[in-house]
Amino acid sequence: MDSFTPNNILVTGGAGFIGSNFIRHLLSSNSDVTITNLDALTYAGSQLGLTSCADNNRYEFAQGSITDSSLVTTILHNKEIDTIVHFAAESHVDRSITGPEAFIDTNIVGTFRLLDAARTVWGDNLASRRFLHVSTDEVYGTLSATDPAFTETTPFAPNSPYAASKASSDLLARSYFHTYDFPVITTNCSNNYGPFQFPEKLIPLMIVNALAGKPLPIYGDGQQVRDWLYVDDHCAAISRAISAGELGSTYNVGGNNEMPNMDIVHSICDLLDELQPRDDTKSYREQIEFVEDRPGHDRRYAVDASRIANELGWTPSESFATGIRKTVDWYLKNSEWLEAIKTEQHRKWLSENYTKRSKPAA
Ligand code: NAD
Ligand code: DAU
Repeated sequence: MDSFTPNNILVTGGAGFIGSNFIRHLLSSNSDVTITNLDALTYAGSQLGLTSCADNNRYEFAQGSITDSSLVTTILHNKEIDTIVHFAAESHVDRSITGPEAFIDTNIVGTFRLLDAARTVWGDNLASRRFLHVSTDEVYGTLSATDPAFTETTPFAPNSPYAASKASSDLLARSYFHTYDFPVITTNCSNNYGPFQFPEKLIPLMIVNALAGKPLPIYGDGQQVRDWLYVDDHCAAISRAISAGELGSTYNVGGNNEMPNMDIVHSICDLLDELQPRDDTKSYREQIEFVEDRPGHDRRYAVDASRIANELGWTPSESFATGIRKTVDWYLKNSEWLEAIKTEQHRKWLSENYTKRSKPAA
């Protein structure tokens, strides 16, 4: 049974992949809520995925960082926010290996500032408030081929700076519940895929590189296993957790789709062979290249999502076969979005690097 109805929602990181899918999902499935999207528009954020919401009078965008306590406080007051859905994060494991500091700033300090601003503004008014913290299965570390899947009681053992920063944020959220009765619920989900994913993650990168005639880089032996969750299923799980989740609890969210990376890349190549064959009629599989492995690469993730199924009645609707077909089809039909996002990211990169180079020596 549902115990909570959100009215005014603050979505953080709503210009990213999952956040933008969530905003579209919410605006189309709920005719009452208002949404404020707070996003810093880093390289991973873009309003190009939100053009369909721009004219909706229940939606508003605010550019800024979750680390800015005064901005967050103003939004919480002015928009009478009763629900926070916290997606904002640095999300890419490879980037956390080459530059971990941004992960500490946003994922740890940012989550702390957000929790604390909400605690201050919401005061004792907590029964009619919710903070949904979106986290990852990577906090649990890695599994062998025969280990049972992660449950909500699997001990944390994060292996990358990204995973460690997310585990820290989960623990901060947990501590706010235990110390202040702060109404937090955490979801730990597996690898998402679907429309509007930035082409640095495995699935969109492979689609984009394949179509551009570029190599398809497989890290190590390509036998690492992930569980794949279609993004719409994830959005539905978050909505269920907000409406019916138990305060202070965590829920694992997974797609029941454990697959080795090689199989993922083969499925993408096979779909492209069918939907947009190469000019030379050879398979896109010809472009696969084995490259050096990711340092500290987790071997296997697997998610036991029986708690959210049994207690909240959520199960995924999409199989990998149906979800990947929809995804490949979407990328084929949205080459304009892809070109625009690549240009936009290039512009951001240029401006960031120009600023750095042009600073006078101290
Ligand atoms: P993403 O990288 O696509 O988007 C992140 C968004 O956060 C971007 O729009 C970015 O501009 C924004 N952002 C970054 N720093 C910010 C800051 N300081 N203040 C405000 N906004 C900021 O990420 P995603 O894949 O959509 O992931 C969303 C959330 O889900 C993250 O918390 C991630 O850890 C979690 N998650 C993702 C996956 C996945 O497979 N993508 C799986 C499990 C959990
Ligand atoms: O498990 C949930 C996590 O999934 C999220 O918390 C992260 O935000 C999200 O980025 C994702 O992390 P991964 O590291 O699993 O995703 P990524 O798409 O980077 O890589 C998926 C797998 O594919 C991983 O085993 C590394 C491999 N890989 C990735 C890339 C980009 C390759 O073999 N080649 C590549 O070029």
